[in-house]
Amino acid sequence: MEERNVLPQRPSDDMTLSLMSVLQSRRRGVSFPVIAMLCALWGLTACGGGSSGVDPERAAAEFVRDPIALGERVFRSQCTQCHQRNGQGVTGAFPPLAGSARLLGPEPTPIAIVLLGLHGAIEVGDTFYNGVMPGHQRLMSDYEVAAALTYARQAWGNAAPPISPETVSKMRNFIGDRQTMLTADDLDKIPTAVPLSTP
Ligand code: HEC
Repeated sequence: MEERNVLPQRPSDDMTLSLMSVLQSRRRGVSFPVIAMLCALWGLTACGGGSSGVDPERAAAEFVRDPIALGERVFRSQCTQCHQRNGQGVTGAFPPLAGSARLLGPEPTPIAIVLLGLHGAIEVGDTFYNGVMPGHQRLMSDYEVAAALTYARQAWGNAAPPISPETVSKMRNFIGDRQTMLTADDLDKIPTAVPLSTP
């Protein structure tokens, strides 16, 4: 029960916060219209039915058959708008996932980032980002999160172990009712091993 406080609640209005942070994320080298357009694109796809279009039972069956194929499809529908098909991101706006220590490290961090999203100033290698990644907890099933992360952890020269839907489910329980995006401070508090169970 205590453990849920590790990722503290933050009262905020998600939408206002997103817009505010997007406005604040203007950086040298990347024009604001590009960021605005990418976010608008994300908004359109995210509002188009509240899921990636794969029903959970089909996703589960596909996961058993070919998790990487499912993962590539989910990644293309949920992640490429920002991180790009080649996982290189967009300089100054969206961090690369190829070689990303947070993606390739202990499972809880990438899972929490996908479920809750991430905003505010973060350091990636020697580059700073100050963008907005919306949470995907309502958009993706455990199978889809596991597949997309497994795909990304093994694409573009990445070579990290797969992530299972069971692990995603445990992280969902651990996160509990929290809806607000993670910040750099939260990232430091995420456990390195997935909590075994929730009360
Ligand atoms: C709307 C754009 C957008 C979408 C869609 C998006 N992301 Fe992100 N992502 C970002 C931004 C922006 C950041 C950095 C946030 C910050 O600056 O605080 C980020 C950060 C990350 C990080 C941390 C990278 C690092 O090295 O620190 C991971 C991992 C990640 N995203 C994975 C994903 C995955 C997997 C998906 C698809 C399920 C996804 N993202 C969808 C914009 C997006």
